Amino acid sequence: MKKTYLLLFIIVGLFQQTSAKEGMWIPYLLEKINASDMQAMGMRITAEDIYNVNQPSLKDAIVFFGRGCTGEIVSDKGLLLTNHHCGYGQIQKHSTIDHDYLTDGFWAMNMAEELKNPNLSARILTSMSDVTAEVLDGITDAMSQNERNDIISENAKKIIEDLEPTKFHRVDVRAFYNGNQYILMEYNVFFDVRLVGAPPSNIGKFGGDTDNWMWPRHTGDFSVFRIYANAENKACEIADNNIPYKPKQHLKISLNGYKEGDFTFIFGYPGRTQEYIPARQVEYITQTMNPFKIDLRRKKLDIMSNAMNNDKKIRIQYSAKYAGVANGWKKWIGENTGIKGNNAIAEKQEMESSFTEWANDGHKEYATVIEEYNKLIEEKIPYEMAYTYFIEAGYYQDLIKYSYSYTALINTAADMDATDEEFNQKLQAFISSTDRFYKDFNIDVDLAIFKETVRAFHSFPYEGISTPKFVETINTKYNGNTDKYAEYVYSKSVFTSKEKLVKYLNKTNRKKISKLSKDPMYNHSFDAYATYINNISPVLSSFTNKTDSLQRIYMKGLIEFNSDKTLAADANSTLRIAYGKVQAFNPRDAVKYNYFTTLKGIMQKEDPDIYDYVVMPKLKALYNERDFGKYGDTDGSMHVCFIASNHTTGGNSGSPALNANGDLIGINFDRNWEGTMSDLNYDISRCRNIMLDIRYCLFIIDKYAGAGHLVEEMTFVE
Ligand code: ARG
Ligand code: ASP
Repeated sequence: MKKTYLLLFIIVGLFQQTSAKEGMWIPYLLEKINASDMQAMGMRITAEDIYNVNQPSLKDAIVFFGRGCTGEIVSDKGLLLTNHHCGYGQIQKHSTIDHDYLTDGFWAMNMAEELKNPNLSARILTSMSDVTAEVLDGITDAMSQNERNDIISENAKKIIEDLEPTKFHRVDVRAFYNGNQYILMEYNVFFDVRLVGAPPSNIGKFGGDTDNWMWPRHTGDFSVFRIYANAENKACEIADNNIPYKPKQHLKISLNGYKEGDFTFIFGYPGRTQEYIPARQVEYITQTMNPFKIDLRRKKLDIMSNAMNNDKKIRIQYSAKYAGVANGWKKWIGENTGIKGNNAIAEKQEMESSFTEWANDGHKEYATVIEEYNKLIEEKIPYEMAYTYFIEAGYYQDLIKYSYSYTALINTAADMDATDEEFNQKLQAFISSTDRFYKDFNIDVDLAIFKETVRAFHSFPYEGISTPKFVETINTKYNGNTDKYAEYVYSKSVFTSKEKLVKYLNKTNRKKISKLSKDPMYNHSFDAYATYINNISPVLSSFTNKTDSLQRIYMKGLIEFNSDKTLAADANSTLRIAYGKVQAFNPRDAVKYNYFTTLKGIMQKEDPDIYDYVVMPKLKALYNERDFGKYGDTDGSMHVCFIASNHTTGGNSGSPALNANGDLIGINFDRNWEGTMSDLNYDISRCRNIMLDIRYCLFIIDKYAGAGHLVEEMTFVE
């Protein structure tokens, strides 16, 4: 207990002046840690304007959107802005060949036309507070990580239960600084979030995957949603008679733009960073894991893009899947280049040597932590790689994942406690799931990808890890020929077409369903999952415990070792603030990139033969007539995107970019390629976040799409 308080003291006591701008900061600690620094950099509002639990503050307008993006509320009728790529899944789900909202865009001209989205939610933080002492109550240093985890989850459970969580009132206790600090968070969770508008892809995704992760950028990456609540303005399920949610506060918009050097901040939900892991782990990530993933994903992308270029239906079916695969693929390439270019591994090693020297000199509890950690990393690498193979070659393959989901049906049939009625209901649910799954499924594309994943699985060196059964089958029955095996699976399985599967399911019953486990596709998935569940996952989780323990001790040591500055906690999908300045940069020798782009650049990139670079005649006409309305810059141009030195990561997409007064000037959506290593090693000279200029967003809504009624809902500052 004493130790716990000491540590709290260390963390809270460490709040000296911050000078580095790197980091994603915790809203309720802003006043203590960052406010004076932010003000010195130009901010004109207070920490309380940003985060306050008693009064409306900016935080009331910030939303955790969907499965991992951010959004912001911009009207008193719950109107929400996020990225086009964050709403992409929803836009895609509402799209068909006849209503191709991906290609043509979508605009609800009144509330009745807004489209409901099952499976989409919006979460708004209501409060956060430190609960470290309560969570660590009863913990001693002598405990194993397992014992520690048990007590922590017991304590956290108590704290959470006392607050009576419901589906609409979410309560989390989350670890910060790798388990050195715990923070309690409460949220309202809204389940009625409707699609209001989306620009056509050649605006919202202009430049597509070619320009993705790159600056200079010209992507109009936004989409518009609206949060609905019940008659009491409370979070609820989707219902026709719900009304637009009235937030405690919505963001005001500034059309005044920015200049180089202006203060900005990003308020949102960064997902995951690993700034404090050892050099050896960074080396493993960039030199072993990333190359495998990059290679397999490149193969998947080639298969999809060939098919998409030749067939409009396949383009719609695979656009969201393609974007997902491509996004990671390109990011990791950038990450590897950045880590190398920055000499990050050697620098980390050097820092680790000084750390150990410091530890030996009066901080003995940290003297062996790096050595032990490095040993552990060597031991766990084969399992981490096996896991990576499973995820990339198994889990991320449509038919493997889908066919495996039928395990739940087979298990229900065998479950003595389940009634026939329960089984039949489940069976019906699986029958209707076929509509959703096969809408976006093409057998040729899927088989080609399956072949690549089987090849990858087959090539994995299973030393010490038991091999999936199908790998033996390939060796004994197919002479090692993975393609022949794949073709056999697809020729015999009922999963390869909706018709076959539905026919099968309509004829089956509780007694017969176990036969499905003989289906070669199901069998394949089952083997892949079984290897993971039985042989990889248990070993990995014992490693995870050891890693967590060493990382927690190492992190605590790093905080003490760096006692002259405040280290920001790694991102963990909780609400954070990153701040910096609008700033140009030099990506390489003799090259300087300006800090904003304009519509002129879109006209320069235009190529009518490439889907991602098509420019619609209407946009061209507006450009030619310089008809920018109130959205043009004083320099006479239409700004499209801009960059700043805010430390952001995945999850920050859709986050508001705010100026010194806390007014909305942009929507964050990406980073520069030279800087994607920032998740492992942030460097202000190379790393920029990329934002859509709010003026371009409104120009598209108002002048291009003619949806000015949405702009009228918003509040503008002078
Ligand atoms: N790179 C951005 C982020 O990580 C945008 C991704 C979506 N765009 C795309 N072309 N795939 O999410
Ligand atoms: N594009 C990312 C996102 O979707 C943001 C980033 O990684 O910079 O959250």
